[in-house]
Amino acid sequence: MDLRLETARLVLREFREDDWRALHATHSREDVVRWLTIEPMDEAAAREYVQGIMVSAREQPRTVWDLAITVKGDDAVLGRVGMKRDADPRSAMLWFALDPAHQGKGYVTEAVRALLGHAFDDVKLHRVWGDCDPRNPASARVMERAGMRREGHLVQNVWIKGEWCDSLLFGLLASEWRV
Ligand SMILES: CC(C)(COP(=O)(O)OP(=O)(O)OC[C@H]1O[C@@H](n2cnc3c(N)ncnc32)[C@H](O)[C@@H]1OP(=O)(O)O)[C@@H](O)C(=O)NCCC(=O)NCCS
Repeated sequence: MDLRLETARLVLREFREDDWRALHATHSREDVVRWLTIEPMDEAAAREYVQGIMVSAREQPRTVWDLAITVKGDDAVLGRVGMKRDADPRSAMLWFALDPAHQGKGYVTEAVRALLGHAFDDVKLHRVWGDCDPRNPASARVMERAGMRREGHLVQNVWIKGEWCDSLLFGLLASEWRV
């Protein structure tokens, strides 16, 4: 069944085939993908990405959640928030990205809180974690404000876009979510 998560201001919903245009509008921008592992998407890549999301959404058991961020009362896709189970399926890694025109309103923090709620309350995960480059403070702030614990600073642990990059790690346990 399609997943739909509501927050005070947002609806997080499954991607549909025609959402590729909205995804392309944001993910073709260098400033949006700068701190993601992917390159700017052309139209074909955006179509392919949405197809992939739709296939993974139907997998049983589900291992990937990549949800469209929309504002209540307006179905336009402003970005995405997602998670993927790790090799141990009781743990998952988080990600998010938003149209720059809508950044700074707390939408992503709200979306991450909703996804964490689903992860712990419905999927019954043990741990959700995320990482970001320290040069991307907005991302670190989102995870911090969503209630995640800063767990460490790894030095030059990943090779991304032609350079060794540091990672700030954030995590949250089900036991911490419930208190
Ligand atoms: C990271 C991202 C999703 C944040 O979106 P957003 O809509 O600004 O998020 P929110 O409004 O929920 O919260 C942003 C927080 O970061 C803070 N912030 C934004 N830019 C900042 C900066 N340059 N330095 C420090 N803090 C910053 C904001 O002040 C806010 O914190 P506050 O509410 O305590 O003031 C958005 O910048 C984005 O899509 N970036 C491109 C994709 C990306 O980098 N994704 C993460 C990959 S790890």
